[in-house]
Amino acid sequence: MLNMGGPSTVPETHDFLKNLFSDGDLIPLPFQSILAPIIARRRTPQIEKQYEDIGGGSPILKYTKIQGERMAALLDELHPATAPHKAYVAFRYARPLTDETAREMKADGVKRAVAFTQYPQYSCSTTGSSLNELYRKGKTGDFGDGVEWSVIDRWGTHSGFIEAVAQNIERALEKFPAEHRSDVVLLFSAHSLPMSVVNRGDPYILEVSASVNAVMDRLGHANPYRLVWQSQVGPSAWMGMQTGEALKGLARLGRKRVVLVPIAFTSDHIETLYELDLEYAKEAREHGVEVHRAESLNESPVFIRALADLAAAHLKNHSGGKIGPTSVQLGLRCPGCTNATCGAQKAWFARAGR
Ligand code: FES
Repeated sequence: MLNMGGPSTVPETHDFLKNLFSDGDLIPLPFQSILAPIIARRRTPQIEKQYEDIGGGSPILKYTKIQGERMAALLDELHPATAPHKAYVAFRYARPLTDETAREMKADGVKRAVAFTQYPQYSCSTTGSSLNELYRKGKTGDFGDGVEWSVIDRWGTHSGFIEAVAQNIERALEKFPAEHRSDVVLLFSAHSLPMSVVNRGDPYILEVSASVNAVMDRLGHANPYRLVWQSQVGPSAWMGMQTGEALKGLARLGRKRVVLVPIAFTSDHIETLYELDLEYAKEAREHGVEVHRAESLNESPVFIRALADLAAAHLKNHSGGKIGPTSVQLGLRCPGCTNATCGAQKAWFARAGR
């Protein structure tokens, strides 16, 4: 289960930020190896304070473990041919990092593995970065010899995922008086991307939009909605409109009932618990807006069932020869890609997916 991860405890914040700013797939910086430690050191006190404010760390590892354990149990029933199944977590910037997970898988003698992204929508800066890291560790034998790999690289319109998000929106809508419910604006919020990434042809913006559209179809388009973008850092241009600005704009337009919907992440993390709940929603309330946030997927049984369905279908189709080790989409690099690793990665997974 691949994801970016987050510091489980406050003292892990610095290393998390250093790993994050060192990743050129996520945030391309000039003189990255020199600048990354400086930026990480400078930002650590502020971000540590945010993790303190949300209870002393990120819950992403806790939820990913719960989701993984329950998914694996369901998978044993849904696809007994490959049982027993075991879920491992490999984070990109926080523990357990890929090399730690590789050691564990090697010690367990794993011979068949599915790299299952936990980012529903594909971006080269998120799932792509995790796959690049997996490729680097796999190539040097960290996972052991003869592991057969395949990849689930995107699933942003899977019906179970869409259903789980829609149900959480319906629960949030119920917090508004029935007579006002149809006026409530659904404000979908996803992590933004630097425009330099968007402009090289990254598919993320399209795939997040497709998720939003599928959720709105499931809800019968009963509410007005917008898709906005959060969490940009630094002075360069990022995808907008920004979530905080959108809330202020809605207040100015007199649209004072809003459900905030995290659409690109599968559990609570600092962007929901701090940024959405403690910053944006609080500020919007000061502007007279009633805001409720749709819950993150966390322990949603509908969502965990969706993960198991995705994995079962993948295993069945792969062993039946219907699909290759990676999706067709992974075969097309961004038209503006200049990263040699992206090309090598696909070839490595193909070789390791005999
Ligand atoms: Fe998208 Fe390399 S950046 S394929």
